[in-house]
This record gives sequence, structure tokens and C-alpha cells, in this order.
Amino acid sequence: MATVSATDEETARREQHAKAMAAKLAQMKVPDDWKILPADPNYKNPLVRHFRHRGTVLTNYHLVNGCVEHWARFQARPTDIFVASFPKSGTTWLQEIVWRIVHGETGAGGKADTPLEYRFPLLDMPSAVNMEMRSVHEMDDPRLIKTHLMYDLLPPSVHTSGAKVLYVTRDPRDVCVSYYHFSRMVNYEKYRGTFPELRDRFVRGEVMHAPYREHVQGYLRHSDTVLCVTYEQLHADRASVVRRVAAFLGRPVTDDQVESIVRHTSFGAMKENPGTNFRHWEKKGLVTAGQEGTFMRKGQVGDWRNYFTEEEGDAFLKWANEPV
Ligand code: A3P
Repeated sequence: MATVSATDEETARREQHAKAMAAKLAQMKVPDDWKILPADPNYKNPLVRHFRHRGTVLTNYHLVNGCVEHWARFQARPTDIFVASFPKSGTTWLQEIVWRIVHGETGAGGKADTPLEYRFPLLDMPSAVNMEMRSVHEMDDPRLIKTHLMYDLLPPSVHTSGAKVLYVTRDPRDVCVSYYHFSRMVNYEKYRGTFPELRDRFVRGEVMHAPYREHVQGYLRHSDTVLCVTYEQLHADRASVVRRVAAFLGRPVTDDQVESIVRHTSFGAMKENPGTNFRHWEKKGLVTAGQEGTFMRKGQVGDWRNYFTEEEGDAFLKWANEPV
């Protein structure tokens, strides 16, 4: 696979951004309702710190970028479509399906090659300069928006506007494994602890967007209005999921369109597509090319078996399924 190298201009821009961010972080005032979590030396990015805020875990990047003010300013519209999830549950997969249904783009190429996060930006952070994400405030209707915020943290207008919300869940053991690799891959975390160390942190509710159980159960409790799908359903019968999503969005699809969307959202197709494999992250310095793999890593059901013993897997699942 060809690697994407940054131009001198991009490298200079990135270094300038890193310096500016370091200065902001050094001067950061921590409000009383942001409780700092104990520092974990396994995170090798010296700038990153984790905080608990309103029951969830965010970082100093959220704080200095003014995310709380950004959520308060956000006004949902009836035509908005949100794809929500706990990270590493299959968000990108469901987003790509939703985007293709809404835009009637069922084939390869075209706008589908544009990085998904520009087509379907994140609510949780204000438009991050370094990422060139579009601000959700500037988007045309219908806005497609991704979020990892817990149900109760969503701006209230999401619930009152008639906007549509979809949520994807995955076997929590596979979520945890995928999370471990993602934390190793992204330079804003550079996690270098062992898998069991990350797993224990996950259970303690100290990884970004934790606590896991509250996150999942918070959305599932609203499954009368939120369309909930699973990663495993996307594997087993993607055509049915595409039809369910299309019906939920009120956008009918033909059998041919379903077949084409299924084909172009296979793991292989999305790994090949630089827009869904986030290859531009290499240029942006968010990941280091070739070091810890690409976003589209394995895409399997049951990879947890390579990381947990049978007994550990059972205990983890029992923990994850306990009502909170
Ligand atoms: P793995 O790390 O197990 O490979 P998210 O988008 O919520 O961050 O989730 C990312 C996970 O979904 C990664 O899991 C990624 O490979 C997987 N994924 C994304 N698109 C997929 C697809 N088309 N088929 C299978 N898995 C996919």
C-alpha cells in the first residue's frame, strides 16, 4: 500500500498548529466541573490529559477548543441525521451507508472519495482547524452529523427538532480491542500500554467517551425513536440493514441500489477508498504512516478471541451487560 507523505508546507502548518496548541494547553484554565483523571504514562503524547465532565470522559483538546460552548450553540434542524455510537463500534460503516442512501451515490468514486469526516462531520468538537472539517453550523441541509456524545449530553434540540438519530453497537469485547489499536494509532493519544492495561482503563470508565455501559444503555433505552443497529447485523445481512435505514430515513431504495451500496461498503471497498480509510490523517500528522496500521484495521467479528481468554471474555461481557 502506498503511503501518503506530507508536503513541506503541510509539515510546517502542522508544527505551527502543534506549537499553538501546546501554548493554549499550558495556559488552559480548568473549570470546576472538569475533574482531571490521574495521569497515565502509557499515553505517550505528553500534551493529552483526560477529564471527567458531566459524567463522561473528554480531553483537554475538547476543553481548549470550546466544545461545551459549541454544543450549547448547536441548533438541530428537522432534516438533520445523526449517527451516534461509542467509538469503535462501526460508526464509519453506518455513516457511509447513510451518506450513500441520502446522496443516492451507490457506486465507487465521485464524492464518495472525499474524506467521510468532511461529508459527515463530528458534532463533538468545533470545526478543528487542523482537520479542515466543515463546521456543522455552515452545512447545507440535509446535514449528516456524527457524534460520540452520550444520549443525555446531546444538545436538547436534537431531541425536540424531529432530527433522526441512528445508533450502532458492537460486541463490547471487539469494541475494546479496536479501541486499543486505535489509541495506539492516533498521535493525539499514542497509547503504548498493554491490552490488559487498556481493557482495565476501559472498565474503569477512563477512556475517551466512557463510561461504556451508560453510553450504550442510554441510547438503547430510547430505541422507540432511535434506530439501533449492530455491527454484527452489518456483517451478517447488510442488505436488510440498508433497507431498514432507508425506511427509517424515509428515502426508498431500489433492489439495485441496495445491492450496490452493499458492494461498496464491504470492508475491502472501504479500505481501498481513501475517504473511508482516512488516509489524509497521515498528511495531517494525526497518524504516522505505516506505524500502527490504518483506520480500516481488521473489520472482523470475534477478534477479541486473540486478546481475551474465554474466561476473561465472559467476565467482560457480563460486566458490559449489567444494567446501570
Ligand atoms: P477494527 O479495529 O476491529 O478493524 P468506528 O468507525 O466506530 O471507529 O469503528 C471502526 C471499526 O469498524 C474498525 O474495527 C473498522 O475496521 C471497522 N469497520 C469499518 N468499516 C467496516 C466495514 N466496511 N466492514 C467491517 N468492519 C468495518
